[in-house]
Amino acid sequence: MKNFEFLSPTKIIFGRNTEERVGEEVKRYGKKILLHYGKGSIFRTGLYDKVIKSLKDSGVEFIELGGVQPNPRLSLVREGIEICRKNRIDFILAVGGGSVIDSAKAIAVGVPYEGDVWDFYTGKAEPKTALPVGVVLTIPAAGSEASKSSVITNEDGWYKRSLNVDIIRPRFAIMNPEITFTLSPYQTACGVADIMAHVMERYFTNDRGVDFTDRLCEATLKTVIENTFIVLKNPTDYDARAQIMWASTVAHNDLLSTGRTGDWASHMIEHELSGIYDIPHGAGLAIVFPAWMKYVYRHNIERFAQFAVRVWNVDPNFESLEMTALEGIERLRRFFKDIGLPTTLREANIGEDRLEEMANKCTERGEIGNFVKLNREDVLNILRSVAKG
Ligand code: NZQ
Ligand code: ZN
Repeated sequence: MKNFEFLSPTKIIFGRNTEERVGEEVKRYGKKILLHYGKGSIFRTGLYDKVIKSLKDSGVEFIELGGVQPNPRLSLVREGIEICRKNRIDFILAVGGGSVIDSAKAIAVGVPYEGDVWDFYTGKAEPKTALPVGVVLTIPAAGSEASKSSVITNEDGWYKRSLNVDIIRPRFAIMNPEITFTLSPYQTACGVADIMAHVMERYFTNDRGVDFTDRLCEATLKTVIENTFIVLKNPTDYDARAQIMWASTVAHNDLLSTGRTGDWASHMIEHELSGIYDIPHGAGLAIVFPAWMKYVYRHNIERFAQFAVRVWNVDPNFESLEMTALEGIERLRRFFKDIGLPTTLREANIGEDRLEEMANKCTERGEIGNFVKLNREDVLNILRSVAKG
């Protein structure tokens, strides 16, 4: 096990009716806030009215900026920065999913910075300060409610890039599983794929002596898999929604990567897909992750066999170690298919004409991945392997 530091400062406020406490939480950090949200689900679900009431009851002044779209755009971030500066905003409240939270985080680092906020996403500069951010979460998926990441798409070239720094971890995250009852089966499934991907990126490591976190990863995956079938059958099953919601945070708040280095190549490849084709991140991961696994499993067949046996209940005596490993990958792919996700580019209506462009962009800063280093050719091979079907 590697030496590590673990920082997860986000206060989690979890359970029924917790959104009613948002005003009192916000008041600890700010007097005049930016209320940031997406394309309208918060109006349809009634969450907007509850948040507004709570803010007003607590005497918090707010200015609104809605319209964040999935795969959040840099142009709206820039607009948000201007609004915050002009109105002397001291806190940002994100009410939504990963896209809204990531947009809020980008605005938060952009406000005190004299240069262009995109500098932080290209590695040209590192943010030193940020406005505090709080969250009312509406979809379990990205884990942004407690993560140190923000992922933004620059319309100029359709570059989807991430910033990873601790200062953007939210101060609090309010999480009421009832708010997720309105998610469509497809959005639910996309979220599940992302949660599982965050665990699997950490699981496939070259570090040894990490059995504790291996077991935590396996438990998280098994819990999410089992409860996904329950919520797809019954979207208002509170306990099943709650399991998935809490798992989404733990999957990406870095607890599961303590003492180990994760891979992250699949995420980098996927960001090219959702950056260019604007598909949900989770759908892209359902395509890329099993393909990545098939490409690299020979690097450590034992680890893939362990994944197959412990997570997918493959019989340990199944033909051979290699066949066991491959069966685990196949069960993952079938699971994604069974819950309604694409597992090929064609199923996501993506053609073969821009594979080279994606491979180039993905590796323009060098090789990607840690479990196995991948160059441009490797990325292209992985994309080609899922082009048809
Ligand atoms: O915009 P609205 O109308 O709110 O609709 C949203 C959106 O269309 C809808 N939705 C959310 N809550 C709902 C709901 N519909 C009905 N009922 C509800 N309760 O769901 C759609 C997807 O929302 P979005 O925020 O895009 O989803 P998600 O949380 O999956 O976020 C995806 C973004 O996060 C990034 C992804 O790349 C992608 O851009 N990621 C961020 C990470 C991070 N910051 O740590 C890590 C991840 O790996 C990921 O890259
Ligand atoms: Zn992800």
